[in-house]
Amino acid sequence: MKVLFVTSEVATVYKLGGLGDVSYALPAALRRLGVNVTIALPYYARIKLKGAKCIGPLAVSWDGRRELVFVFLAKLANTRVPLLLFRHPFLNEYRGDKEMDSPTRFAFFCQTVATFITVEAVNGEHFDIIHCNDWHTSLLPLLLGESPKVFIGAKETLAAKATKTILTIHNPAFHGVIEASLVGKIALDRRQFHMLREWGPPYINLLREGLEYADVITTVSPTFAKEMLKENYGPHVTAVLRKRKDRLIGILNGLDPDLWKPEYSIKNALKEKLAIKAHLRQALRLPETTVPVFGFVGRLDKNQKGLDILLPSVENLLKKRAIQFVMLGTGAPSVVRMIEKVTAKYGASFAFIHTFDERLARKIYAGADILLVPSKYEPCGLTQMIAMRYGTIPLVRKTGGLADTVEDGVTGFVFEKYRASSLVEAMERAKRVWQEPKTWGKMVKAAMRQDFSWKRSAREYRALYKTLIQTKAP
Ligand code: GLC
Repeated sequence: MKVLFVTSEVATVYKLGGLGDVSYALPAALRRLGVNVTIALPYYARIKLKGAKCIGPLAVSWDGRRELVFVFLAKLANTRVPLLLFRHPFLNEYRGDKEMDSPTRFAFFCQTVATFITVEAVNGEHFDIIHCNDWHTSLLPLLLGESPKVFIGAKETLAAKATKTILTIHNPAFHGVIEASLVGKIALDRRQFHMLREWGPPYINLLREGLEYADVITTVSPTFAKEMLKENYGPHVTAVLRKRKDRLIGILNGLDPDLWKPEYSIKNALKEKLAIKAHLRQALRLPETTVPVFGFVGRLDKNQKGLDILLPSVENLLKKRAIQFVMLGTGAPSVVRMIEKVTAKYGASFAFIHTFDERLARKIYAGADILLVPSKYEPCGLTQMIAMRYGTIPLVRKTGGLADTVEDGVTGFVFEKYRASSLVEAMERAKRVWQEPKTWGKMVKAAMRQDFSWKRSAREYRALYKTLIQTKAP
C-alpha cells in the first residue's frame, strides 16, 4: 500500500497550527505500522532543510504554459517518512489564509502534485491512496478524476484508475474561495467544477470541490463528524457534507508522546508542578498567592476559540480575586485590544503574552493548575490533551474533540452551553475541587494516565485505506 499525504504544513519543517502537528505525527505513526507513506509539501522559501536532494524537474501545465517545478526529496526529522518538496516561485510564500492569492497558489500546488502522481504512475510507481488535508489540497480529487459518478467528459487519467482519495477536514470554516477564471488556468472541463454565483462574478469554493469528489471525507473526532452536519459552514459546504454524510467519518487525532513529555512522573507530578508554578509566576511577575492559576494557550481566534465568553468569565473571577490567569497566543489586533483592556484592569493577576513561544507554552502546560478550552467549535483540539499529559486539568466546552477526550469530574471539567455564565460556573466548580487536595490529586493522576497515542488513530486510518483500496471503482 502506497500513500501520499498532501498538506500545506508539517511540524519541524513549516508549522502554522494544529494541522502541522497532525501532518508530522500521523505519517510517522503510519510508518511505524508499516504503511508506506510519503508527505508532499510546497517548498516555501522560508523552509530551511538540510539534506534535501533535487530529484528532478517536473513540467506542470498552467495557464496555457508549462511551468518547471523542481522536486526535492528529504526525510522528516526523527522519522522514517520521506518528504517531497515542490519548488516553484508560485509556491514561495505562505503565511496563513489571509493572503488573497493563497487559493490560486494552492490550486497550482494541487496541479503540481497531480502531475507528479501521473508521472510516477507512468514510471510504474503507483500511489494507492492520496490523503488530502483541508481546502489547500482539496482540488486534488477532482484533478485526479476520482469519481466517475460526477466526472463528465474528459478521459480518465492514468493515475486515476486505481487511486483513491481521502479528504480530512481539520477546519471547515476555511474554504479557499477563488474566481472562476482559475478553471482556465487548469485547462479542465468547466462542467467538472461547481460554479457558484450568488454575488458578483462566478467563483469556486475549493473545499467544496474536495467534498464533492473525494472518495471518503474524514474529520478529526467522532463528535465533530456529527456536529459538522448540524452547523452552518456556508451553503456550499454544509449542503455537500449532508449530501455525502454516508462517506463522512470521524477519527480522533492523537498526541505525540515524545514531543509532549513532562519532566516528571505521575508519582511526583504534584510536587514538581508546584515548583514549576512558582517559576511561572516569577517569570510572569504574578505574586505568590493561594488562588489557582488558570491558563489559555492557542490561536486567539474569536470565532472558534471562545474568547467572547472567556474574557468576561475571567474578568468575573479576577474581580473577586479568585484566580490568576495566564494567556499565551497570537491573534488579530481587534482581539488583542479586547484582551489588553482586561489586563489594564487586572494586570497584577493577569499575564498576557502576545507571541507564539513554544517554551513558555510548555511552562504553562506544566505549571498551570487548570487549562481553559472554551471553544465554540473544536474539530479535535490538541491543548486539552497536552494539558492532561502534564497533569494540568482541562476545563472544556462539550464540543467536537473536546467532548471526546475529556471526562467531566474524572480527567477534567466539561460545560455545555456556550455562554459566560456556564463557563464561570465551571471555573468555580473547578476551583472548589482544586481546594480538596485528595480529589484533585486523583484527577491529576487520572488525566496523566490517559493514552492519546497516535498508534490508535493510525490504525484506524490504515483500516480505512485498506477498505478503500479493496473497493472497486464503479
Ligand atoms: C484545526 C482544528 C483543531 C484540530 C487541528 C488538527 O486546527 O481547529 O481542532 O485539532 O486542526 O486536526
